[in-house]
Amino acid sequence: MRRIIPLNSDWAFNGAKVQLPHSLSEIPGNWFKVSDAASSGSYRKTIMLQSSDIEGRRALLRFEGIGSQARISCNGEPAGQVFGAYTPAVLDITDFLSRKGDYASVTLQVDVSADEDPLIPPYGFKMDYLVFGGIYREASLILVPEHYIKRFSAFGTADGTVFIESELSENGPSSVHILNKEGEEVGFGQISEGTIHIDNPELWDIFHGVLYTAVMEFGEDTVSVRFGFRDAQFRADGFFINGRKVKLLGADRHQSYPIEGYAMPESMQRLDADLIRRTGLNIVRTSHYMQDPAFLDRCDELGILVFEEIPGWQHISQDKLWRDRTEENVRTMIQRDKSHPSIVLWGVRINESADDDELYRSTNSIAHGLDPHRQTGGVRCFEKSHLLEDVYTFNDFSNQGLRSPKQVCTRKCPYLVTEYCGHMFSTKSYDDEEHRLSWALRHARIVNDMYADDSISGCIAWCLFDYNTHDNFGSGDMVCYHGLCDADRIPKLAWYLYASQNSSEPILGLSSFMDEGDHPANTLGKVAVFTNADFVRIHLNDEEIGDFYPASDIYPALPHPPVIIESFIAKRLARIGISSKSDQTLVQKMIDDAKKEPSSALLRRYALPILRLSQIARMKIPAFIKKIQEIQDLAPKAKGIWRFEGVKNGKTVSVQIIDPNGPIVLQATPSQTEFRLSDCPTYQVCQVQLTALKDGCSMRLPYFFDSIEVHASGSMELYGTARVLTIVGGGAAVYLRTRGVGSGQLSISSKRFGEQTIDFNVTR
Ligand code: GAL
Repeated sequence: MRRIIPLNSDWAFNGAKVQLPHSLSEIPGNWFKVSDAASSGSYRKTIMLQSSDIEGRRALLRFEGIGSQARISCNGEPAGQVFGAYTPAVLDITDFLSRKGDYASVTLQVDVSADEDPLIPPYGFKMDYLVFGGIYREASLILVPEHYIKRFSAFGTADGTVFIESELSENGPSSVHILNKEGEEVGFGQISEGTIHIDNPELWDIFHGVLYTAVMEFGEDTVSVRFGFRDAQFRADGFFINGRKVKLLGADRHQSYPIEGYAMPESMQRLDADLIRRTGLNIVRTSHYMQDPAFLDRCDELGILVFEEIPGWQHISQDKLWRDRTEENVRTMIQRDKSHPSIVLWGVRINESADDDELYRSTNSIAHGLDPHRQTGGVRCFEKSHLLEDVYTFNDFSNQGLRSPKQVCTRKCPYLVTEYCGHMFSTKSYDDEEHRLSWALRHARIVNDMYADDSISGCIAWCLFDYNTHDNFGSGDMVCYHGLCDADRIPKLAWYLYASQNSSEPILGLSSFMDEGDHPANTLGKVAVFTNADFVRIHLNDEEIGDFYPASDIYPALPHPPVIIESFIAKRLARIGISSKSDQTLVQKMIDDAKKEPSSALLRRYALPILRLSQIARMKIPAFIKKIQEIQDLAPKAKGIWRFEGVKNGKTVSVQIIDPNGPIVLQATPSQTEFRLSDCPTYQVCQVQLTALKDGCSMRLPYFFDSIEVHASGSMELYGTARVLTIVGGGAAVYLRTRGVGSGQLSISSKRFGEQTIDFNVTR
């Protein structure tokens, strides 16, 4: 039988004992140097085994990901090299195991460098992301029988066919069992390659991640993979899954985190997929490289579609080695991941590179040769590019809205928008209200255009999270603030637009805290409510301000257009007889203009409308003006308490309350509090999101900055988190990792909030 021994603990690194995943250096969240992330270092570890463990077996050393190149030696002798941060490396180290009596051992040394070597993709030119160094994914030693299964994959289609492929160390009889999700055998074949048919499979689908298992037996070796049955196809008239047309709405994911860079174990990889599901997104693009198998596994389980692509950013080298490595990346990506039912598209171009027909003919033919079942894409950012792939995947940075595929492509073809917005309107969690709103509405307009055009399969937003980058990109502080969430995965305003489209939870995201002083000349301006409710009912103290409906006139194609409120005084005006919409808009404009330009010239300009409106209101002009001054005051005496209710099917399903005098609370939300070490081959990480909120409202307070102290004890320790950290724009996160079994605790304290604790429990 094959045995997998995790090799994640007790590595010696710079005189310290470390565990994998490990980052070469811990870097600040912003304002650092590229060399801090791209450093180098050596890892050492001695593996001791029982001689009987390796009797008649081969020992395969496997690294899931090392950033970004490494020399590996065994007992001081060179054993292999790794080039590129995103693909696994497997080395047969059987012959290095030295036996002494009952034991066999080998000492590994892994010299890692994250230098930006121009011969390794994605490097060679400037790029808008950082590759963080270290043995940043898990490692293992796999003991296999002499005759073993080198590779095994299974792929199912909706008609019940399972396509089996494998590579064996030598020819010999083998068999494959197909198990359903209850573990019952539903199919069998004495094959190593070919097909097995099963009747009436339960289909894998979006948000319905039904998984089967294929188990291959070859001599004494057994390997299993999970797969699903589904048909997925991009066509010129849209994307179809299991014969059903579905509009795709998604986001691009970079896999980095603040401080620890890429070094996050399975628990955190899975958490990102959970967040995507919670947002109601049905597709994610692994921009711009192959991501962690644990992330893909979770997408399989949750029914999230994946567009996976090879590493690269705009630059194609003319160097043969670089180009060979790009082709190799296509091979390794597909061979590693072809069983995942979530993957519906292989990205076989360097993101946003120029046409290079020679290279891309080759990457396409490799992809189609290795995987005849999936389509290819290749992300470009210019019109009329040579379409060598199956799908024209296009980054549309038109400043507003989307271009039509007709304008972009040379012929009718499947079409998917793979990025937009991003650098065109970078937005921080703590930017002012108007900036944040304008950003979220740009997203709304683009998503609307996508839904409106039958020939666009979907759109994938740039991007899920703010990310660290080189200093010539982003906001100058080594961060691109393009995320729907900040780098700690805490939602920013545009997140609510996405969540309100497909989420099964009630969503009610407010663009405003109703503070006039945050706007030029105290004019509140437009307020948007991102919601999946039928309408929003608003009260100010006891006064009914009105029911406001989704702006389907502006965003007719969105499943849930935001509610846009231009004026809160319509009802008040109606009470004095001004009930036509156009007159109400006129009064609001007069009020706003008066704030911006408080002069008698303005009064003169509006003299005629004032006369007309005062007649409608049956008031003398001075009394009318006084009344309007009262009406426009949305915060009489003390500031009022606003209540926004989302109403669906006649019921209030969500409420946000803005109480200017209400207390600020620090909400601490742990990603999990119970851990079982056996669930995972290494330590697990918990993310505790800290959000500063007004009691009654779940929106982060964008201008909240304060420092807090955190302390971990027992079975949990801080991971890449300083004892004192700053809440930025109402959000921050503490990362903790398991360091043993038993109970653990996190205490969070500050002068303002006092102390709160979170308890954890870690079992074996
Ligand atoms: C695109 C690029 C992304 C990111 C984005 C920022 O051109 O593909 O990686 O840099 O711009 O908006």
